[in-house]
Parts: sequence; C-alpha cells; structure tokens
Amino acid sequence: MKRLLSFIAAAVFVGCCQGCDQGYEQVGDACLAFHLGSAYNWTEADVVCSEQYGGVLAKVTSASDLRAIYEYIITYGLTDSFWLGGSDLLAEGDWVWLADGSRVSKATPFWALANGLFGYIHEPSGGQEENCLLLDKKKKYFFNDEDCGAYHHLICMQM
Ligand SMILES: *[C@@H]1O[C@H](CO)[C@@H](O)[C@H](O)[C@H]1NC(C)=O
Repeated sequence: MKRLLSFIAAAVFVGCCQGCDQGYEQVGDACLAFHLGSAYNWTEADVVCSEQYGGVLAKVTSASDLRAIYEYIITYGLTDSFWLGGSDLLAEGDWVWLADGSRVSKATPFWALANGLFGYIHEPSGGQEENCLLLDKKKKYFFNDEDCGAYHHLICMQM
C-alpha cells in the first residue's frame, strides 16, 4: 500500500509540471511562456525573454508543436500576433533561430501563404524590409516575416 501511494504521488508529480521551470507551461514538446503584457519590438522581445524568463524567443521546428501553440492560443482566447526567435538579419533570405543558429524550415506547414504576382506563394515575402519572424494572427497563426521594429507580444522558450 505504501509503495502504491508513493507510486501515485510520483505519477502525479511528474504529470503536474512536466519539467518546465516556473513561468513556463508545457506546450507540445517545449516549455513556453506567452508574454501578454506590453508589446515590444523584436530586439526588445528577446531581452524580455532573457531578463524576465531566463530564456530565449521561441523556436518552433515541428508541425505538432505549431499545432500545440495554435491550440493554446484558441484555448485561452488569445487574439494577438507573437514574435518568435527567427530572423534573417545576418544574411537576407537565410532564416535562422536565435536559440541555436539552426535554420528555420522553409517547408510546409510553417510559413503562411501570400498573394504573389502569379498566384499564391509562401512567405517570407518582405525582403530587406521584413527580417523578423512573427506568428501572425492575420495569417491564421502561420509564420510571417515582419518589420523587426514593429511592436508585438512574444513567446519565450525555456533553454
Ligand atoms: C527596438 O527598440 C529599441 C528601444 O527603443 C531601439 O533601440 C531599437 O533600435 C529598436 N529596434 C528596432 C529593430 O527597431
């Protein structure tokens, strides 16, 4: 009986926090924090992640994690766009994640559709004007390239 109880206690404990630090929630495979207070430009947003959360702007690399974020947004009735930690500031067109310098996937399903000259194309489409990665409410919460100086809420990720 004692052993059973400690087994249950352990199971509840594991189920409770799933290994995320305080301030973060398990969303898909990542521990994320949706920062809903003030809006920030992309550079400031990453400072908020490191100074207030001890993390980094979020990196999203799987379709299931993108879906989990979308479910979170729907579940909590969030209505904003969110900065993610991708940019092509270092080399135009070469999108990398702040967290580890790895490439941002150009594959389906991450980037939103854009209305191109000859029909639909995939974002990013802003060239030199838009170098930072936004999870864009106007694009059904797919990736969009946005002016890094624009002000948005943000999603931080535990490192
Ligand atoms: C973001 O805001 C900071 C502080 O106001 C400013 O120094 C920085 O140039 C801004 N970044 C961009 C990309 O506009």
